[in-house]
Amino acid sequence: MNEFVRSLEARSSLGFRAVASDITGARPPVRVRDSKEWNFDAELQALEEAYEQNGSPVAVNFRSLVPLGSGVDRATHLFHSYPAKLLLNIPLFFINCNKYSLPNSVIYDPFSGSGTVLVEALLAGRRAFGADANPLARLIAAAKTTHINADVISAALDAIVSDIDPFYRAPFTTTIKKDIWFSENTFHSLGALLYSIRKNTTGDVLTFMEACFSSCVKRLSVSDPRLSVPVRLKGEALSKHILSTPTAIELFVKVVVANCARLAKMPAGCASMIHTDARQEQAEGTIQADLIITSPPYAGAQKYIRASSLSIGWLGLAPSDRLRDLEKLNIGREHFCKSEFSEDTQFPLTKAREILAKIRSINPLRAHIANVYLREMNDAAHAIVSRLKQHGHLILVIGDNMICGRPFPTSQFIKEIFTNNGLSIVLELIDDIRSRGLMTKRNKTAGTIEREHVIVFQKR
Ligand SMILES: C[S@@+](CC[C@H](N)C(=O)[O-])C[C@H]1O[C@@H](n2cnc3c(N)ncnc32)[C@H](O)[C@@H]1O
Repeated sequence: MNEFVRSLEARSSLGFRAVASDITGARPPVRVRDSKEWNFDAELQALEEAYEQNGSPVAVNFRSLVPLGSGVDRATHLFHSYPAKLLLNIPLFFINCNKYSLPNSVIYDPFSGSGTVLVEALLAGRRAFGADANPLARLIAAAKTTHINADVISAALDAIVSDIDPFYRAPFTTTIKKDIWFSENTFHSLGALLYSIRKNTTGDVLTFMEACFSSCVKRLSVSDPRLSVPVRLKGEALSKHILSTPTAIELFVKVVVANCARLAKMPAGCASMIHTDARQEQAEGTIQADLIITSPPYAGAQKYIRASSLSIGWLGLAPSDRLRDLEKLNIGREHFCKSEFSEDTQFPLTKAREILAKIRSINPLRAHIANVYLREMNDAAHAIVSRLKQHGHLILVIGDNMICGRPFPTSQFIKEIFTNNGLSIVLELIDDIRSRGLMTKRNKTAGTIEREHVIVFQKR
């Protein structure tokens, strides 16, 4: 291990050697199982009984049902930040109910984001499949769910660090304006680091290293760390931030060491990202899921591509370097030209039509965003249901929001959309969102989402 890595390792509480011995003590590396065997069948039965008796959603607190504190560093969940991550307690609970899935069952998340459901599926010994429109999300999810021996990561880190040429000037995409987001020094060291990563690694190790690199990018930029979408810091906040910014290599080594320790807690094997759009129809002979768990996007709620733009720019993940082309794939997107929303076709759900008409009288663009969202969720529902086995369950986690100061009951619409596509509701739960740091108020007339509906459907 080279001197630089060793000196950082000595300062880090998660030393490489301790990490390496965890999984290399017994060779060949054995399947590392979740240390606790969870089983929530009894709790599920009690919830089902309460739902049957009342016929209305049952209030739950998933943080009490699954006693893990919020923000817990479990396996690879904290590998990389991502907007509106799903509370891990929710998939952990449902995946570990034998009624819904058994070891080796197929679990699918069509809006898998950074892979929270996929990680829990693998930890429970299930097979994990995902899809997401954001290329950065797919990279993070792949890195979090692909087991790599710690010795291999350690050797690759040595090679990367010893081969960095500080005078190397990386070619850079035009996706983002580098001068706005990075100091000259940071920009050059990030370029030299990425060049060395790509020169010295391939395959799964390259994916792991690029995801770690991405995890450093926003922290090293001059954007406000409290916001998910990049917003440049100003004045005193900017000066303070620059003074406290570590060097690119120092931060990268720390991130690699910490993520290597996290990855050591994942079982051998990996999740498969099967496509890039939840609306993609099932092809002949492809997988059918026993259980689908997902938290879909909201209408105009999260700017996933904007939030990922600094990493997308560095890693060259946008086709033709244009973020707009990636945004077009996103359900819930906000950018439309006027010509697109002057001729809206009416959405088929009567209740939605009334609400959309009221929103349209206040703000035609907001009405168009909501209308397109419902139409595209309807297309996604059709494709998602086709990927579910007969008698299989689908669990949707979704909240209601406000549009133009009016309640927009997304969960009601989503329920109707999925029942129209052939599913029956067998359970509905409501949990208060107490700490979703990235759920920010988006514009003056859009409220924050405060309660999550967890709706369980079955294909009968
Ligand atoms: C609420 S987030 C999911 C977060 C995820 N559960 C996690 O824990 O990281 C919704 C995701 O839907 C994705 N998305 C939006 N439109 C999509 C589409 N057409 N097909 C697949 N994914 C899409 C977004 O990129 C985003 O990652």
